[in-house]
Amino acid sequence: MRNKVTIVGSGNVGATTAHWIAASGLADIVLVDVIDGVPQGKGLDLLEAMPIARKDVIIQGTQDYADTADSDVVVITAGVARKPGMSRDDLLNTNLKIMRDVVGEVVRHSPMSILVIVSNPLDAMAYAAYKLSGFPRERVIGMAGVLDSARFRAFIAQELKVSVADVTAFVLGGHGDSMVPLPRYSSAGGIPITELLDSETIERLVQRTRSGGAEIVKYLKTGSAFYAPGAAIAEMVEAILQSRNRILPCAALLQGEYGIRGLFMGVPCKLSSNGIEQVLEIKLTEQERAAFQNSANAVKSLADVVDESLSHAPVGSAS
Ligand SMILES: NC(=O)c1ccc[n+]([C@@H]2O[C@H](COP(=O)([O-])OP(=O)(O)OC[C@H]3O[C@@H](n4cnc5c(N)ncnc54)[C@H](O)[C@@H]3O)[C@@H](O)[C@H]2O)c1
Repeated sequence: MRNKVTIVGSGNVGATTAHWIAASGLADIVLVDVIDGVPQGKGLDLLEAMPIARKDVIIQGTQDYADTADSDVVVITAGVARKPGMSRDDLLNTNLKIMRDVVGEVVRHSPMSILVIVSNPLDAMAYAAYKLSGFPRERVIGMAGVLDSARFRAFIAQELKVSVADVTAFVLGGHGDSMVPLPRYSSAGGIPITELLDSETIERLVQRTRSGGAEIVKYLKTGSAFYAPGAAIAEMVEAILQSRNRILPCAALLQGEYGIRGLFMGVPCKLSSNGIEQVLEIKLTEQERAAFQNSANAVKSLADVVDESLSHAPVGSAS
């Protein structure tokens, strides 16, 4: 049986994710969007590229969730993206309504799927999807850390003039201005960057990583990043479908890890065909712990808005 991945939201991130997944031949893909014709057109265009890519991937675009039935993984990118001057948090109310519609349909048609949440504000949307789906925490995963750490890796590699293949990086915490890049756990060829770069340079790269999304929004003016986000999602989907036990930074529901309970935060996770196989806890310095807690406070304030909103319209009412 070939794996099946549904991508809800066929805009920039959704379509680019489909492209990365199709190009690697990982799974058959169903693209969904509310705009009639968009998933069909993009899906057909991508299907017609498969003879060149030499991949026997089936790609379908649809408005009908019946076509998504029994997906192994459902990636949710539906929603609005930010424009210059907006923070990710400004998207909360609009995207929460969309999440409510989408998650109900997804759960009904793919009750055993693993959800990869992408819509922003990421940690709050993952939390909403967790509440709306009733899925265990293993099967609701937010994408942010793979992207944020890829940005950090790209900047480190550029600075050191080394191959990106030799650079690893870790970014923890929420997917917002309070994210916590960890230089101590970032390395080139296994050597911690703290031994290769001075602290001022590291701080500059950390700040650029923190505002990496905004830097692209500023250039694009009409939307936000999608190539690197799509690649990050595809990496997570591959880790899940091929049960690779990859350790990747994901937004996961914390149940006491890092001293936090009931919030989605970016932490290192082992990903397998079960979804989140394990949340790994690493020792943080006092300063890092304070930064993580600060990030948790920012995430909590949005989770409270989600709770408040869901309390007005019970979870079971998602349609
Ligand atoms: N987590 C991350 O790291 C990350 C990275 C990039 C973008 N994002 C977020 O991903 C989301 C999508 O970004 P984008 O650039 O693709 O935006 P986009 O506007 O290009 O695409 C969003 C698509 O969602 C569709 N949509 C809206 N409501 C829907 C519904 N109810 N059902 C199905 N589809 C629906 C829209 O029609 C549109 O085609 C945004 O919220 C953005 O902020 C997150």
